Amino acid sequence: MQKLEIFGANKLKGKIKISGSKNASLAILAATLLSNKKIFLKNLPKVRDIETMISLLKSLGSKVNFTHKSLIIDNSDQNKKIASYNLVKTMRAGILVLGPLLAKFGSAKVSLPGGCAIGTRPIDIHLNALTKLGVKYKIFQGYVLATAPKGLKGSKIRFSTISVGATENLIIAASFAKGVTVLSNCAIEPEINDLINFLNQMGCNIQWISKRTIKIKGVSMVKETNYSVMFDRIEAGTYLIAAAITQGNLKIQNVVPNILKTEISTLKKIGAKIKVKKQEIHIIGSKKIKNLNIRTAPYPGFPTDLQAQIMVLLCKANKKSFIEENIFENRFMHVGELNRMGAKILTNGNKAIIEGNTKFMAAELMATDLRASVSLILAALTARGKSVINRIYHLDRGYENIEKKLKNVGAKIRRVN
Ligand code: UD1
Repeated sequence: MQKLEIFGANKLKGKIKISGSKNASLAILAATLLSNKKIFLKNLPKVRDIETMISLLKSLGSKVNFTHKSLIIDNSDQNKKIASYNLVKTMRAGILVLGPLLAKFGSAKVSLPGGCAIGTRPIDIHLNALTKLGVKYKIFQGYVLATAPKGLKGSKIRFSTISVGATENLIIAASFAKGVTVLSNCAIEPEINDLINFLNQMGCNIQWISKRTIKIKGVSMVKETNYSVMFDRIEAGTYLIAAAITQGNLKIQNVVPNILKTEISTLKKIGAKIKVKKQEIHIIGSKKIKNLNIRTAPYPGFPTDLQAQIMVLLCKANKKSFIEENIFENRFMHVGELNRMGAKILTNGNKAIIEGNTKFMAAELMATDLRASVSLILAALTARGKSVINRIYHLDRGYENIEKKLKNVGAKIRRVN
């Protein structure tokens, strides 16, 4: 099994180009199922979750080809409507094929996503909302068996809780439903906007009518589409934190800084110096890191997907900090390993107290989920000596070329078998 070896502690200096967004790509790939015309996608990140979604599409009958810049998807003969456990179990976003398959065929069988390291992650919000479009379903032997006997019919739906995945599934399904759908209490993550832009470019009719409300007029035909996916804001946030934690000097490129307002203002409060250009954020980490209290929240709040990374930074703060995790239960899996490296973090339910003034010590470590893995890299970058991180397959689900990108800016990091 592959491992990462990291020799700290170097200041990072240079430029990092941010890849395409994993989460936006996953939703857009699922949405391609609606189309019977060719779709050309650019800027998809080369990470495992995207490979899994492509395998899922192929298992459903999609034709997928690569050119050196684009992924070409042809769903004109796509005819299968069973998403198997093998492909959905490793990646919860597999459930996003349910909406488009129902819209296209009026029935579908999709495996339940199964357990996950960071919480139970049910799909009740997706299913309840789909019933309002005329879907009937039952759960049988680990699968959702869903039908829409009279086809999907537009409706008014208010999500009980803000959910990124449920908002995406419903936008996709309602795009091909008969009549008008109004979705309220929607997630407003930038990836949702990217999905909407893609679908509208394809010929769908989706518009925001207020901050969390979307109006969708169903269509029945779409056209050939060329689309470039947005940048990965979580990858960008991770490297901004890497600069802050190593007192580095990094130019984070290929981003839209406006989308990262919360991250930028958080890092400024901690003491980093930040300058913003059109597609670049220049960050210089300061020696003194100020303590801060952080609550994760749906966009535009502080993202849960950066909670583990910011916690590592707060370990180096001058005083005690607090973090409240409000999106996923059980998302403090990184704490045990960080404490083994010398951090003093106490957790109680969804709250963590971080003592600060930590000098991380190099250690042999175990990655537990995608963002926890990268938090261990951040800590190891500041620890003198050699750290070894095991089970890095978690990391490969979501970070493209992470060793290469870090090595280019001065980190001593290598992958070993
Ligand atoms: C997406 C992102 C993930 C990010 C999360 C929150 C993708 C592929 N993944 O995940 O990286 O951390 O948004 O920003 O885009 N919930 C239910 N029932 C449901 C659906 C969700 O109870 O039917 C709960 C979840 O367990 C969680 C909360 O709602 O506690 C938010 O989850 P959701 O926004 O749906 O996250 P995902 O779409 O799974």
